[in-house]
Amino acid sequence: MISVIRRIRDWDLHRRRFVSEGLSVGLVPTMGALHGGHLALVRAARRDNDIVVVSIFVNPTQFNDPADLKRYPKSWDRDRAVAEGAGADFIFSPAGEDMYPDGYAYRVSESRRSKMMEGEHRPGHFDGVLTVVLKLLNIIRPARAYFGEKDYQQLRLIQGMVQALFMDVEIIPVATVRESDGLALSSRNALLTGEGRSRAAAFPRYLREMSSADEARDRLVSEGFKVEYVEEIKGRRFGAVVVDEVRLIDNVPL
Ligand code: PAF
Repeated sequence: MISVIRRIRDWDLHRRRFVSEGLSVGLVPTMGALHGGHLALVRAARRDNDIVVVSIFVNPTQFNDPADLKRYPKSWDRDRAVAEGAGADFIFSPAGEDMYPDGYAYRVSESRRSKMMEGEHRPGHFDGVLTVVLKLLNIIRPARAYFGEKDYQQLRLIQGMVQALFMDVEIIPVATVRESDGLALSSRNALLTGEGRSRAAAFPRYLREMSSADEARDRLVSEGFKVEYVEEIKGRRFGAVVVDEVRLIDNVPL
């Protein structure tokens, strides 16, 4: 049965035992509302490690819009069952004040890659992400941590932080999981209405099929999407759109 850990010091007791027994720990950081994309992360962690920890913490510092934080989907009982079903051993779900005893006075800031695309449209977002991921890695101290390629900019920034700060953890990327119509699995999909959900499938299709970023942007606009950006960087096309008042991001290799 999966164990739920709320306090950092409780995890520490387990961690010390695992270290003394030579057991490896894999971490899957999440904000809950678990879906098939998270399952792929847990399965990869299960394959590579003796112990698998799923962290569930809706991190307030990465939400630049308080309304977005308020309506972020929460499904604790289901998440617990999903994490257990996927083979996780622990859920680490700390309280906000335990994660931010300094009130977010100390934070990690990246000055280049974090300022474009998501960073440009969500100021401060990546400071919040990098700071909480650093904290989670320092608390859990896993051998490996797993991140999905759907949040590709986030993945690259975390890899960059681990390298820049000489952190002793392996960051393992996991491929985006998609619905049969191509929509990337995301906790935010649960907020779409039926109509919005059917329209949303055009987003990854145009990102993939159009011959340029401009063409993809124009096509999305003509289909009624509010487009925040479509950009190409190093052989990948990235986009963020709003459909049905729900913000979706995705990226595809070209
Ligand atoms: O990708 C997410 O769900 C979050 O950004 C993460 C990595 C769990 C940090 O809060």
